[in-house]
Formats: sequence, C-alpha cells, structure tokens
Amino acid sequence: MEKTLSIIKPDGVARGVIGEVIKRLESNGLKIIAMKMLKMNKAQAESFYSVHKERPFFQSLTYFMTSGPIVVMVLEGENAIAGYREIMGATDHRDAAEGTIRKDFATDIEKNIVHGSDSPETAASEIGFFFNSYEVTG
Ligand code: CMP
Repeated sequence: MEKTLSIIKPDGVARGVIGEVIKRLESNGLKIIAMKMLKMNKAQAESFYSVHKERPFFQSLTYFMTSGPIVVMVLEGENAIAGYREIMGATDHRDAAEGTIRKDFATDIEKNIVHGSDSPETAASEIGFFFNSYEVTG
C-alpha cells in the first residue's frame, strides 16, 4: 500500500468540481484517508513549491495557489502515486490523455485543477506538510 498527497487547486474548487474529482479517485480504487479544505498564504505556497523556486513560473504559481481555498487529501492504494498521476493526466492539459481530470477540466498549464506527489519521498514530505500523524487515518 502506498500513500500520496492530492490537492484540488483553487481553480478546481472555484469551478465546483470537488465532487467530480473525488468520484474519479474513489472509483479508481484510491481511498481517501485524510482530507481538509484550507487557504494557503504566500509563504506557505512558496515553501510547498520550493523545488520550483528557480523556475520562471514560481511567482505566478505560488500567487495562484493562494488565490482561493484548496482541498488537500491523502490517498491510499496499491501503486497510489503512479495510479493517481495517471488519473490526473499530464501537467499540460493539451498533452493529457482522454478521460483524465486535467484533459476534462484544466484550462491552462498552471491552472491544472489538481496536484499529485511524484515519488514516495515527495509524498511523505508533502503529506507531512499538510497533516499531523493523527489526522492521517490509514
Ligand atoms: P503541479 O503538479 O502542482 O506541480 C507544479 C506546478 O507548476 C504544476 O502542477 C503547474 O500548476 C505549474 N506549472 C508547471 N509547468 C508550468 C509552466 N511551464 N508554466 C506555468 N506553470 C507551470
């Protein structure tokens, strides 16, 4: 069993697709074992995305991620990290496969509805960023 962090980004919350995203996760065998809605401040967004701090889109991305509430979840399942990334689709929705969340809902490479961890190490640190151990029920 693997755990991964999922974020429904401000565009996903604003567009009212929280339920649709959760339905796709659950129907693909990913179990939600922690969940909350929150609004990050700029320092928190910069810390969460610090791996991208040298990228040209860093300021825009961290501003966008503070523009409204987000839903953060811990997902658990077999191969949850890769499985969730497959359900999300490619970062750029124009490259995303048919039937993926980003293909169906994203409008922009930045405003791409969802985030998911990319490795077990990243998943552990991203889960720890948002949740205390007693909040993760799995
Ligand atoms: P995410 O999976 O959350 O990881 C980093 C985020 O940076 C990514 O989704 C996009 O929201 C954003 N991003 C990645 N590449 C670009 C880009 N070329 N221009 C703007 N934003 C980007």
